[in-house]
Amino acid sequence: MRFDIVTLFPEIFSGYLTQSLLNKAIQASLVEIVIHDLRQWSIDQRNHKIDDRPFGGGPGMLICVEPVIRCVEEVQAMSPDQALVVLLTPQGERLSQPMVEQLSTNPRYIILCGRYEGFDQRVLDILKPIELSIGDYVLNGGEVAAMVLVDATIRLIPGVLGDEQSSVDDSFSRGNRILEFPQYTRPREFRGLSVPDVLLSGNHEAIASWRAQESLKRTTERRADLLPPSS
Ligand code: ADE
Repeated sequence: MRFDIVTLFPEIFSGYLTQSLLNKAIQASLVEIVIHDLRQWSIDQRNHKIDDRPFGGGPGMLICVEPVIRCVEEVQAMSPDQALVVLLTPQGERLSQPMVEQLSTNPRYIILCGRYEGFDQRVLDILKPIELSIGDYVLNGGEVAAMVLVDATIRLIPGVLGDEQSSVDDSFSRGNRILEFPQYTRPREFRGLSVPDVLLSGNHEAIASWRAQESLKRTTERRADLLPPSS
C-alpha cells in the first residue's frame, strides 16, 4: 500500500516513519510512504508562499487552490496505481474501525494535511476528496491525523503484524466490535494482585468464556453505546 502525504511540515513525519512496526513494514516493502512538501508547488518562486487571506475577511489564512491541484496531479502521476484522495479535517466523517478496515483494501492514497484555517473551497470542489476527521476536537493541522490514519490502516495489511489474529481480536475490530478483555503476563502475583486462576488453568473453553464475559462487562461499564440495542 502506498501513501503520498502532502504537508507543509514534512519533518513532523520523520520520527514516526523510522520507528517500530511502520518502519518494519516499509523495510519489508509492504508499505511505501512518500512525503511531499506542498511549498514545492508554490507559484511564488521566491518565498514559496502557499496561503493567502480569505475573501470577505475573517481571521487566519487559507491554503490556495492552485498549488494543491498542481501538486495532487503531479503526485498522482508518480505511480501507476490510481490514488484515492483523503483530506483530513475536523469537518470530515469521523474515522472508525469499520472505515479503517474498508480503507485498508485500497492500494494507494494521497493524504492532504490541512493547516491554518483550511483549504480554499475549490480544492474540495475539484478533487472531491474523502474528508475524514479523527475526532470531535481541533488539531493544529492534519499531520497528526494523517499519522493516525496510516497507523490504523497499515496494521490491517496482511504481513504487517506478526500475528494476524491480533488485529481481529482488538477492541472495535472485525471479530469483536466491543472492548477487549483484560490481559496479564508474568509475574503471577505483584503487590498482592494475582492473575485470575482461569487464565492459568489451561482450559481453553473456560478461558474463552471468561474473556467474552470480561469484554462484555468492560464494554457495559465504559462504552455501553457499542453494545447492540437489547430487544
Ligand atoms: N485537522 C484539525 N483537526 C482535525 C481532526 N480532528 N481530524 C482530522 N484532521 C484535523
